[in-house]
Amino acid sequence: MSTPLQSIKEAAEKKIAEALNSETLEEVRVAILGKKGELTQILKSMKDLTPEERPKVGQQVNEVRALLEEALQKRRAELKHALLTEKLKRETIDVTLPGKRFARGHRHPNQIALEDLERVFIGMGYEVVEGPEVEYDEYNFKLLNIPANHPAKDEQDTFYITRSPEGADKDILLRTQTSSVQARIMKQGKLPIKIISPGRVFRSDEVDATHSPSFHQVEGLVVGKGVTMADLKGTLDQFAREFFGKNTRTKLRPHHFPFTEPSAEVDVTCFKCGGKGCSVCKGSGWIEILGCGMVHPHVLEMCGIDPEEYSGFAFGIGLERVALLKYEIDDMRLLYENDVRFLNQF
Ligand code: DAH
Repeated sequence: MSTPLQSIKEAAEKKIAEALNSETLEEVRVAILGKKGELTQILKSMKDLTPEERPKVGQQVNEVRALLEEALQKRRAELKHALLTEKLKRETIDVTLPGKRFARGHRHPNQIALEDLERVFIGMGYEVVEGPEVEYDEYNFKLLNIPANHPAKDEQDTFYITRSPEGADKDILLRTQTSSVQARIMKQGKLPIKIISPGRVFRSDEVDATHSPSFHQVEGLVVGKGVTMADLKGTLDQFAREFFGKNTRTKLRPHHFPFTEPSAEVDVTCFKCGGKGCSVCKGSGWIEILGCGMVHPHVLEMCGIDPEEYSGFAFGIGLERVALLKYEIDDMRLLYENDVRFLNQF
């Protein structure tokens, strides 16, 4: 073997062995076997040799090339293995370390109250339906016996989206009460009706411990043949017992709502003191929870139902109100602040 070839081989083997990563190894390969590599130069210079020498030298160069390629291959595999070992070492998991706690959320007290309430009414055969939060004046007011300029409109002054040139009933607003769903359902004309409709309502109220510009109501509506006030009272008694506890009693106080006649507000016996009087019920023994009444014949008529043939009752429950009572929360704002220290208690 010619000396230059021998020294190229030895130097190359040394460099291959010393290469510490695949990039350096590739540089070594190019420097020897590449187009302008040392070994390639030797092959190119073979034209200066005598015809007898050429095959011999050619064979030697090829032998060296094969040896070096093998050495490169071997080193490449070694480096790859070393890299993997290093990576595995770096990524070992210490199973004795404490785990990361998964912060799991849970239902909001409003939602818990709503689901409890829905369960009670579903148990009595009610269907749960929802209506739009952005509503026409027609459903929120007009069909509920609250025509343009009715004072009840001021009491529930709301957020108007658009005033319509076609007339007040086509104004678009954020609904002030879920009673709007009553009108929508009755207008659909499918009888009998037995629904509850939970949802968000809006009023331009200032925020305080018992008011918020956005809160929730659950509307109830039953329309059929021979539905009486006794059915209404029985239904509300059943609801109160299941929701607040089996010893709860109800009391209907005469009231006025434009869309029911007669109308009433309903109190339940204080779940805290059982009716004796305490700080929760402000000494009276009773707590107001909802408004209700027999659907006004004029409302039935406007919604396309014959009041001679059909009758119905309706009620509207303030969801926050019953949630606050049930969980003994004294400030409504707590329900909206979403402080987890508060929410975690339910
Ligand atoms: N919509 C009434 C309110 O927001 C509550 C109400 C009262 C609903 C009587 C009713 C009802 O369905 O019959 O104050």
